[in-house]
Amino acid sequence: MTTAAAPEVLVETEGKIGIVTISRPQALNALSVSVMDAVVELLGGFDRDPSIHAMVLAGLPRAFAAGADIGEMKDITGAAGAEKQLSRHLSHWDKIGLLKKPLIAAVSGFALGGGCELAMACDMIVASETAVFGQPEVLIGVIAGAGGTQRLTKAVGKALSMEMNLTGRRLTAREALSFGLVNKVVPVESYLSEAKKLAHTIAAQPPLAVQAAKASVLFAVDSKLSEGLSFERQSFFRLFDTQDQKEGMKAFAEKRKPVWTGN
Ligand code: CAA
Repeated sequence: MTTAAAPEVLVETEGKIGIVTISRPQALNALSVSVMDAVVELLGGFDRDPSIHAMVLAGLPRAFAAGADIGEMKDITGAAGAEKQLSRHLSHWDKIGLLKKPLIAAVSGFALGGGCELAMACDMIVASETAVFGQPEVLIGVIAGAGGTQRLTKAVGKALSMEMNLTGRRLTAREALSFGLVNKVVPVESYLSEAKKLAHTIAAQPPLAVQAAKASVLFAVDSKLSEGLSFERQSFFRLFDTQDQKEGMKAFAEKRKPVWTGN
């Protein structure tokens, strides 16, 4: 079922997965305040819904998103004005990075500026052959403001991130795959179905273990190895409090498929 939560953001569910699609074709899915408000509200709703185990954030075939909405920023003057008018908007990218359930970006066409940052705030990226990634903010007199100098550097390393952030160089989908920015590249006809397939595969796993794995991998991005190992170990131990740990190991011993309850 597809319902319009906001005119330019569509939402549907398919089994245990929730799908949010940005659809603002006339502006190449530019991420206006109202679009990001709806995206965050809908994904947050799925994150809190116990019947949803994984999520997909999609754009359109021509554009995942060509950035934050430049029209909404062009008349802002002064650092204080920018902070006042844009802080809440930019915090939406942070909120997406803090979701507990796995989120897969289904990216086709332009993923530029805030669009690239939005894809990188997701946990995995399934890209179509036409996907293009970049941080072109320098070309309009600013820099990335929603993680593009940070997440891109952690994803592809300093040299390439420098080049992309300082020159606006874009990556093709194949280049993004070779640099580890995306998980897979598929024909444009199937990028959404492939992203959903990956989400269904994750949604079929025990949800508490999946969420613990996600949190632990994200912890690795920001922490020293010793702190990360400790975080992982504690999460591993905590999963022995769950019914799904008992069921998973019992089913293995009994040579049958486990039946997960999410407890
Ligand atoms: N904001 C608002 N509108 C945008 C937009 C954006 N980021 N990107 C594209 N559009 C609009 C265009 O203004 C145009 O609208 P009109 O038809 O009304 O003129 C429409 O989308 C189609 O765009 P183009 O005619 O430019 O299409 P194109 O195929 O010639 O070029 C493009 C495509 C290369 C993506 C080009 O549109 C472009 O360079 N867009 C801007 C990319 C960019 O600079 N993004 C960063 C934004 S700042 C940011 O994101 C800050 C942050 O870190 C959060």
